[in-house]
Amino acid sequence: MNSPRVLVMDFGSQYVNLIARRVRELRVHCEIVPHSLSAEEMARTLPSAIIMSGGPASVYEQTAPKCDPGIFDLEIPVLGICYGMQLAVMALGGEVRRAERREYGPAEVELDPECQLFDGVPSPTSVWMSHGDSVASLPPGFRVAARSANTPVAAIEDPQRRIYGVQFHPEVVHTAHGREILANFLLRISGLPGDWTPGSFIEETIAAIRRQIGDDRAVCALSGGVDSSVAALLTARAIGDRLTCIFVNHGLLRKGEPEEVEKVFRGHFHLNLVVVDARERFLSRLAGIEDPEAKRRVIGEEFIRVFEEEAARLGDLRFLVQGTLYPDVIESTAKDTGPAAKIKTHHNVGGLPEDLKFELVEPLRLLFKDEVRLIGAELGLPDTILGRHPFPGPGLAVRALGEVTAERIEILREADAIVTEEISRAGLYSDVWQAFAVLPTGRSVGVMGDGRTYSYFVVVRAVVSEDGMTADWARLPHSVLERISSRIVNEVAGVNRVVYDITSKPPATIEWE
Ligand code: XMP
Repeated sequence: MNSPRVLVMDFGSQYVNLIARRVRELRVHCEIVPHSLSAEEMARTLPSAIIMSGGPASVYEQTAPKCDPGIFDLEIPVLGICYGMQLAVMALGGEVRRAERREYGPAEVELDPECQLFDGVPSPTSVWMSHGDSVASLPPGFRVAARSANTPVAAIEDPQRRIYGVQFHPEVVHTAHGREILANFLLRISGLPGDWTPGSFIEETIAAIRRQIGDDRAVCALSGGVDSSVAALLTARAIGDRLTCIFVNHGLLRKGEPEEVEKVFRGHFHLNLVVVDARERFLSRLAGIEDPEAKRRVIGEEFIRVFEEEAARLGDLRFLVQGTLYPDVIESTAKDTGPAAKIKTHHNVGGLPEDLKFELVEPLRLLFKDEVRLIGAELGLPDTILGRHPFPGPGLAVRALGEVTAERIEILREADAIVTEEISRAGLYSDVWQAFAVLPTGRSVGVMGDGRTYSYFVVVRAVVSEDGMTADWARLPHSVLERISSRIVNEVAGVNRVVYDITSKPPATIEWE
């Protein structure tokens, strides 16, 4: 029943999901399981291999996460990474000691060419180390398979029992041949077929959603963004019209967006879609509010209110579908434990409070954004949705600076559409992370025909970025900027000037509010 797969045991490493991601990249199905899973429970699910993750603890700490030593008797190949390797060493009768020097960062390791884990990997090779403990003596049956200047036991193997350990992190990009090492473990040593695809993810996820929701009904806040769209489509495949999607048009969307959402989800995918026209409601709640954080708060609260009202209309619903991604999971965990400074209150449409009475269905919880795009493409989501630039939950409200009025949002929406059109026409849309218009407060003097004007001005913001955390302003060709400028002043009444934002992030942010 189960497809061949690897279990990744979670010992608390920040890299657990990165391991899972690397495994998926090798087209192997992977499941993250708690470290406390017993050998018996593990055996019942018939895994083809086990990876023990790293973790921040020291194996000698009282509270350090342990594992059932029985897993080493299952005759299933095991790879321990960092803490995982130290735990295996302890469990099998070796010794781990606090290293004289904590090792953190790049290191060169010499590999034993006999070790299958390193087939095809040049030696020495650079790896990423991050550990305080080291293996001092090996358990019976083991040999050293790699060493570095600081770490005499950088990898170990018991090829008979197919138990391996690496002190470094093959999952991070700083380990030059990490991918090959993981491939050797999964495909060669463990004999996994490497034929898992986004299609398999879809099938498995649909089955899991069916198991979770049973005969009940679910509701989803659809924003038209990639994440909620993919989550909704997967759920609809699982439970059909027992899923209702609620799309709240708060009047702060990009030009053509509400129409596109209806066309795609109702017209093409035949989803059960409720479109709520809440434009007036949001405008009146926003009247007179100028402070960016206050605007975000009001929009967030109002969104929840509208959503709750609409969901209540649907009767008794138990489940709420959300397009939460792995980075969101990490971010919210970090928020709970870390003192990270709040720069802006990011609000995702569909980011609903925890005290809602729903049980959550989060089919994308373990995926990264680019993986969600792959799944979306496989599900047939059109490029207009898949490739669309990120858009903040509070929408145009954080791009029309100061007070939000119907008139100013309309001006901004038209100017923004021109920016998008011209950048697309120049073939640059997917080269930039985001490109949009901003409408600052204030006016500037201009001259049109024979008359003096005193009108709004528009800022064009276009940035390149990997992940939105840092960004640089896009060096758009002058010809494109020229067309954007002349079209905006000619076509958008009330605007007499266009400027280009040439600030990177940091120190600026991508959005203006
Ligand atoms: P900043 O302005 O902080 O934005 O440099 C970084 C990225 O996040 C997007 N952004 C948001 N996304 N809800 C969202 O879902 C929000 O409230 C929000 N605010 C900013 C922004 O568009 C950029 O891609």
